[in-house]
Amino acid sequence: MATLEIRNLRRIFGPTRAVDDVSLSVDHGELLCLLGPSGSGKSTVLRMLGGFERPDAGSILIDGENVTNLAPERRPTGMVFQSHALWSHMDVFSNVAFGLKLRRLPRAEIRTRAEAALDMVGLAGYGARRPTQLSGGQQQRVALARSLVLEPKILLLDEPFASLDQHLRERLREEVREIQHRAGITMVFVTHGQDEALALADRIAIMRDGRLEQVDRPEIVYRQPSTEFVAGFIGQMNMVDGEVHGGRLHAAELSLPVSLAEGPATLALRPEDIGLHRASGEAGARVMRVTDFGTHLSVELHTGDRVRLRATAEPGAEWAAGMHAELRPRKFAVYREGKLCALPLAPGSGELPASIQSLVADQTRHAAGT
Ligand SMILES: Nc1ncnc2c1ncn2[C@@H]1O[C@H](COP(=O)(O)OP(=O)(O)OP(=O)(O)O)[C@@H](O)[C@H]1O
Ligand SMILES: [Mg+2]
Repeated sequence: MATLEIRNLRRIFGPTRAVDDVSLSVDHGELLCLLGPSGSGKSTVLRMLGGFERPDAGSILIDGENVTNLAPERRPTGMVFQSHALWSHMDVFSNVAFGLKLRRLPRAEIRTRAEAALDMVGLAGYGARRPTQLSGGQQQRVALARSLVLEPKILLLDEPFASLDQHLRERLREEVREIQHRAGITMVFVTHGQDEALALADRIAIMRDGRLEQVDRPEIVYRQPSTEFVAGFIGQMNMVDGEVHGGRLHAAELSLPVSLAEGPATLALRPEDIGLHRASGEAGARVMRVTDFGTHLSVELHTGDRVRLRATAEPGAEWAAGMHAELRPRKFAVYREGKLCALPLAPGSGELPASIQSLVADQTRHAAGT
């Protein structure tokens, strides 16, 4: 187990501030997901943590020791790269065993540990193959085994499952979670899949243009995104430009109580937080399309001034294109100049939607080791 601390990290490539003043700490055995759009600096942070990139400023501490200038092999870190880099002239077993051989461990121990690592990623019996004889997903799992076998204190994973199909990705995600709990490895996991982050992370750090936007537990990031960027990036969100007058935010046809100074503001509403009620005649918003996902209906609406909104309704609810609905937001957030400035005045306990609830429940089960 190890703690990781990043202080004011910076890396500049010509005109690009790839990583700009990033500070962050990761606790013993914690799994932190770095999430953000392409080019936001995730891989650059990870490469600096692993020692493959030199920071222009800032420091990296592992268990309190400054490792900023240590070579990769002198750090207690293991890294699985974004594009799997296996040695093509070696078979799978030798790829996995290589690091152990460098450590001059006894042959029998090398064999046992390398085979156990291959077994762990579901590739028992593949030892004699060449990397070119494996699928992309299998190669990615060899890369994972190659890092795990060295039992690093901190494992750095750069979108390790990006090239895999959904089913395999979910299985390996479970696998990683289990390994992390069993071995107590601290992990930093880069992804640009928000579902992956919500399902895996103890905490999520969201990056944008080299900077951290928010670092919080998944349900907080989902429920209280601290910036408009995060609100739009995680999960589905309706964003409606509006204006505050006399203690109310007026956005599209909605009018909601807020305690904010007069002026423009943006209303953010999750689809599952919009209650839909049948409106008489042409009042309210017009239903444009209804999609039945089995677990819920997704209802697309146009308000009078043609703002598009998406709401969810109970399965079996009788909504159809052409109907009119009155919108009653149960929860909402308000942003001004990109920053969160108001949550609903009557918040309630804030139930998470079923999809997120099950993700969080999975996580809690794993955390409890059951
Ligand atoms: N060696 C380099 N030379 C010049 N620019 C670089 C270099 N490495 C990264 N960059 C730039 O730094 C920025 C951050 O890149 P990085 O690879 O960290 O992004 P990322 O968040 O991992 O993106 P992706 O999700 O696409 O992998 C990008 O604008 C990228 O073009
Ligand atoms: Mg990357």
